[in-house]
Amino acid sequence: MGVATPTAPAGDVAARATAGFRQWYGAEPAGRWAAPGRVNLIGEHTDYNDGFVLPFALPLHTVVAAAPQDGERWTVCSEHSDAPIEFGAAEADEPGRVTGWAAYVAGVVWALRAAGHAVPGARLAIASDVPLGSGLSSSAALEAAVLAALVDLGGLDLPAERRPRLAQRAENDYVGAPTGIMDQSAAIRCRAGHALFLDCRTESVEHIPFDLDAAGLAVLVIDSRAPHRHADGEYASRRKSCERAAELLGVPALRDVSADHLDEALARLDDHETRRRVRHVVTEDQRVLDTVALLRAGRVRDIGPLLTASHVSMRDDFEITVPEIDTAVEAALAAGAYGARMTGGGFGGCVLALVDADAATTVAAAVTAAYADRGFPPPTHVTVIPAAGAH
Ligand code: ADP
Ligand code: GAL
Repeated sequence: MGVATPTAPAGDVAARATAGFRQWYGAEPAGRWAAPGRVNLIGEHTDYNDGFVLPFALPLHTVVAAAPQDGERWTVCSEHSDAPIEFGAAEADEPGRVTGWAAYVAGVVWALRAAGHAVPGARLAIASDVPLGSGLSSSAALEAAVLAALVDLGGLDLPAERRPRLAQRAENDYVGAPTGIMDQSAAIRCRAGHALFLDCRTESVEHIPFDLDAAGLAVLVIDSRAPHRHADGEYASRRKSCERAAELLGVPALRDVSADHLDEALARLDDHETRRRVRHVVTEDQRVLDTVALLRAGRVRDIGPLLTASHVSMRDDFEITVPEIDTAVEAALAAGAYGARMTGGGFGGCVLALVDADAATTVAAAVTAAYADRGFPPPTHVTVIPAAGAH
């Protein structure tokens, strides 16, 4: 069994977006805008705690082919939908009026308008190579690509560093998912060959070289195919616990508890579960900093144990993994991965494993065999390299 590496830029998927535009609107698009999915190398559930994350963009894209149309009207179609959906300013200005997948598009229009931008009416056609709902942030890729299209079509003044917050607002306030800033930042600000070291409080970034080829390594991404179990409610409840803990500790966010002062902080919390949630976030922030230090020193292999420690912390302290995910991590490690962890919000989604490039096939086969032993439906996998953000 081989493991494919998607290397193509947004070529094929861009052609599909153009074909969709021609099919539905009988015209040529004015341009095409692409944004990638992402994996998070390390730093999970730290973004909404004002902490640190280290995602990189995938060579898998969502492409929007678009052209202006008269008036304040937006028409949008996707390969994943049957027919175009249309909405106007009244629907865009009231969160909840546009529902389903088009809410991500209406949310971007809403967030731009709420920030005072004159958003041009537009027709949009969407195609994507990012699997939907696998924890690789197809939703942030969609928001980022639509945002880039509308900004360019309208000649709006919105520099790249201000776009993630706006796309996040679309997701938080229009779609209604209380996510952090990581996914939109990755989709917009990543650089090819680098991981994005993001301080989620200041939104400052540093592009950290992550050259897997030079180190003879690969990142294997395994889609657990576990059904998302109660993911939305559990995510929101983790977020609430963290916010409550910060309040109890008298700090603006858990980012303000340093690893050096963790024991003192834990001693001030009565509830065992809250203590474990706090321990995950504080130690995870530190693991991001340690990973960045190792990568800066060119010690890519050595980040493996930090990845695995992150997984253990998510499994035991933050309690966001599921049996399929734990099985994939254990099997990858037993087959020789340097480190492995769940990536993304949890309760399903993907696992990433750092492996020797020539061992990717063996590790993938070991995960598939472990799944078969447990009676889980077979997982899918792919090796990935760090790609560029929206373009
Ligand atoms: P993830 O972002 O990890 O893929 P989510 O459940 O947060 O998972 O977001 C997936 C949702 O985003 C889809 O169910 C759909 O509503 C929307 N979406 C993402 N990409 C597309 C697309 N190309 N076309 C239509 N809808 C999309
Ligand atoms: C994602 C969410 C991100 C981040 C992540 C966990 O699903 O969109 O903002 O919180 O979970 O690290």
